[in-house]
Amino acid sequence: MKVVKNSKEMLRISSRIKESGKTIGFVPTMGYLHEGHISLIRRARRDNDLVVVSIFVNPIQFGPNEDYKKYPRNLRQDRKIARDKGCDIIFCPDAKQIYPKGYATRVKVSGLTSYMCGASRPGHFEGVTTVCAKLFNIVRPDIAYFGQKDYQQAVVITRMVKDLNMGLKIKTMPIVRERGGLAMSSRNEYLSPQQRRDAAALYESLKEAKKLIRSGCRESAGIKAAMRRMISKKPGIHIDYITIADPETLRSQNRLGAKSLIALAARIGRTRLIDNVLVDCE
Ligand code: PAJ
Repeated sequence: MKVVKNSKEMLRISSRIKESGKTIGFVPTMGYLHEGHISLIRRARRDNDLVVVSIFVNPIQFGPNEDYKKYPRNLRQDRKIARDKGCDIIFCPDAKQIYPKGYATRVKVSGLTSYMCGASRPGHFEGVTTVCAKLFNIVRPDIAYFGQKDYQQAVVITRMVKDLNMGLKIKTMPIVRERGGLAMSSRNEYLSPQQRRDAAALYESLKEAKKLIRSGCRESAGIKAAMRRMISKKPGIHIDYITIADPETLRSQNRLGAKSLIALAARIGRTRLIDNVLVDCE
């Protein structure tokens, strides 16, 4: 497995691969790899001739009071995991490689980014789309893999790729969960054992919502209230938002549609967690 830190070198390598007619599968990450990331690497391995994984904790997608500095990092372990799972190239630039002196360009997707996490984390998605646009230009993938865990991110990136004719495909893969149901996340590392147990209530509330929908409930308000009741049994969890929305436009639905996204964000201590499920009412 090759480790590349320099953007120009990465672009040279990916251009050579493309000229040889081989396909590139790309998994962008911020590292501290877990089974969620690994599921994307495995899928990329199956679909493509070569697999590139990027590891870059992107400073511009963190707000001023967020966890950029303390975000968990372990490049040695990540390199080993990526190699074992069949990654061919790790691209791990430092911040100066990606945002050199004089850097001035941003990519912003409007509309979709005004809801959900976009509302509570101003500037976050602009940071994500900017870095992904850059990474796509450097890595030149045929397919890039994203997780449904960050549902809104996947929708926003898909929109950007379409709007800017970026010529790659975005594939979104299912959420990988811990045994207790908590969605895997590098940020779970911050949780104490007690907080980790409490955090399972988030997925429990999503399962409860699904159960209510199966039994015929279609009013979003009632479903959201039931979810809130369930989560509030754990005093350490503070809900940021619960939404029931159209899975494509992300606009909230008062009544469930043929397809709905149920998504939430919550804080446990200083740790922000997100989760979601897609439901089919047809
Ligand atoms: P990161 O949080 O490291 O996640 C990298 C990719 O792994 C994302 O597409 C995310 O949705 C996916 N992922 C994380 N946890 C998952 C889980 N439990 N199951 C399935 N997939 C999961 O998302 C980012 O990094 C950054 O915003 C990035 C896109 C790299 C831009 O900086």
